[in-house]
Amino acid sequence: METKIKPPLWLLLELTHKCPLECTYCYNQLDFAKTQDSMKKEDWFRVLQEARNMGAVQLGISGGEPLLNKDLLEIVKKASDLKFYTNLITSGLGRDLSIVKKLKEAGLKTVQLAIQSANEKTSMLITNNKNALKDKIAFAKECKKNGLQLIVNSCITRQNIAEVGEIIEFAESLGANYLEIANIQYYGWALKNINALLPTEEQLKKAKEVTDYYREKRKDMKVFFVVPDYYATRPKACMNGWGSTFLTINPDGVALPCNTANTLPLKFPNVKEYSIKEVWEESEAFNYYRGDKWMKSTCRTCPEKEKDFGGCRCQAFALTGDMHEADPVCDKSIYHNKVLQKVEEALVSSEKPIYRNRINSIKFSS
Ligand code: FES
Repeated sequence: METKIKPPLWLLLELTHKCPLECTYCYNQLDFAKTQDSMKKEDWFRVLQEARNMGAVQLGISGGEPLLNKDLLEIVKKASDLKFYTNLITSGLGRDLSIVKKLKEAGLKTVQLAIQSANEKTSMLITNNKNALKDKIAFAKECKKNGLQLIVNSCITRQNIAEVGEIIEFAESLGANYLEIANIQYYGWALKNINALLPTEEQLKKAKEVTDYYREKRKDMKVFFVVPDYYATRPKACMNGWGSTFLTINPDGVALPCNTANTLPLKFPNVKEYSIKEVWEESEAFNYYRGDKWMKSTCRTCPEKEKDFGGCRCQAFALTGDMHEADPVCDKSIYHNKVLQKVEEALVSSEKPIYRNRINSIKFSS
């Protein structure tokens, strides 16, 4: 299998792990909010410059909630001067609305706004923030007023899957250019809550039919439908392959090949000690799953290994305790029954979702 190292194309800066919401489906690791915001503005600038020198073009600015980072505008301006295509991934909460115009002036191209429902009650049920929907609507309107491209991302769980039609109409009324109906994947906090969140296969099928119906009717807003792993029989090519495309930097400078890679027992390099080139090309962690030498025989002998790269490493570790195993979503995996068992258990459970607690999080005015 080809192991030539190509440059990172997709850079994600997680500017802070503080967040105003407590979403039940958060995929981030359980101790996520404990990460220190120790990257200075100059450190972020250097990361941008070095990644751009290597060929990175797409930039995601995310968190936690990136609006809470005081250097956000300068970071966007720097990225824009370097000719990155910039995408702010946000809840829309945490700053005065006047930030939107300033972001546009700094060169921001796209806002990806998470909206869980068109209904205040459901929104509150999922985010545990009574202002969430109202503030998101105001933020979306401000983005459109300032000529920013708007992507609405709607994370789907048992709590809002029956509302998919309404969500599509709502996103359209906000002027969204794209909508992602993102059936959630079960990592981090979401995995902890799986018994309360996983919809039935029947609900999923219905949501897909509703989405297809709207897709046919409405051509001006593109609608994507993300299928959850737990109802698949083959794994996704997570991150397009480890260390192939995607590079994320945490608020403390730790560099990762995917957002949740630090749940794995590997040591990841810090950009305060190493250049992006060293991190990407030389670090043990980024090289760990390149190629197929790490694979066990199920994956190494599989004709589909060039397509899915053995699936998701974080999921394999979370469900089997062995990060070298095939992703158990795959029905060739000896651990596939773990996924089937999780589904079975979740569907008969009457557990209530637990909100993400706000360790280190800011207090929000209501
Ligand atoms: Fe980490 Fe898939 S989320 S490899």
